Amino acid sequence: MKLVVTGAKGTIGQAVVRYALSQGAQVLAVDNVGRGDGEGHYLAADLTDLGQCCEVLQGADAVINLAAISAALQRSSAQTLMTNVAITYNVCMAAALVGVQRVVWASSVQVFHSYPTLRRAQYRYFPVDEDHPNDPQNAYALSKVLGEQIAEYFAHQHGLTTLSLRLPEVVPPEIWSELPRPIEPWEHSPLPHYVHLEDCARVCYLAATVPLPPATHHVLLITAEDTSADQPTLSIIQRYYPDAEIRAELPGYAAMLSGKRAERLLGFQPQYRCHQ
Ligand SMILES: NC(=O)c1ccc[n+]([C@@H]2O[C@H](COP(=O)([O-])OP(=O)(O)OC[C@H]3O[C@@H](n4cnc5c(N)ncnc54)[C@H](O)[C@@H]3O)[C@@H](O)[C@H]2O)c1
Repeated sequence: MKLVVTGAKGTIGQAVVRYALSQGAQVLAVDNVGRGDGEGHYLAADLTDLGQCCEVLQGADAVINLAAISAALQRSSAQTLMTNVAITYNVCMAAALVGVQRVVWASSVQVFHSYPTLRRAQYRYFPVDEDHPNDPQNAYALSKVLGEQIAEYFAHQHGLTTLSLRLPEVVPPEIWSELPRPIEPWEHSPLPHYVHLEDCARVCYLAATVPLPPATHHVLLITAEDTSADQPTLSIIQRYYPDAEIRAELPGYAAMLSGKRAERLLGFQPQYRCHQ
């Protein structure tokens, strides 16, 4: 299995490269930081450029695309949108051109609402699943909604298998001890969702390797089984979303997002939870 991991110098990318190597994959790590290692393990490339995307994807079985401006307020909104859409489009286009069948990329739960929140999000039901309506509130979240449309387009027009992983807050080991934590005092639309970095790396790898039919696009919510909040889930819903429909039992600190589709499709079960 030959994998290309983009955004490989980032938080998630580094963990995905480590995990994929531990599973015996051959990995080409790509990012636009610094320069390549001269050994073919790490290549510096700007993925807003289609030619560079084609070159790095040559000969791969799958790409895990984590390169992006990874949050709002890092760059201007226009640059965030243009960069993220360009990378998602170019990576898919390059995959189609050079014959890489599988594209996994990082969408975000911010398709439902954004950080920082501009206005109250209206969750209609809990647990929130992939069919819940989107409400992107900034250019970063919009780039994820458009990215999912790009992934859908390449599945249907070019026969690729594409997976849009809607990641929640990805929690690295160094801040794991901070969880569970209170909801921020200013937060008026909390959805205290998270996944541990190691679980995130594993689900990215599964998404790249589990057998799936061609010409299909899969949107998958990724979540731990519990929330990161220090108060029970039903009390959060009653306080912030009193009109929402409750569609499943949500005992204790149960997640407000549904991870069922990822479990069904990929066999993914998170191993980390912050509430015992
Ligand atoms: N970390 C989270 O909590 C979280 C949550 C939801 C979604 N995501 C998404 O997951 C992905 C990875 O997130 P992360 O936290 O590792 O981000 P990160 O900022 O740590 O890493 C992103 C990497 O992309 C690289 N990059 C940016 N522009 C590039 C370009 N033009 N060409 C090549 N490389 C480029 C950066 O150099 C960086 O190393 C992003 O798409 C992000 O939006 C992250």
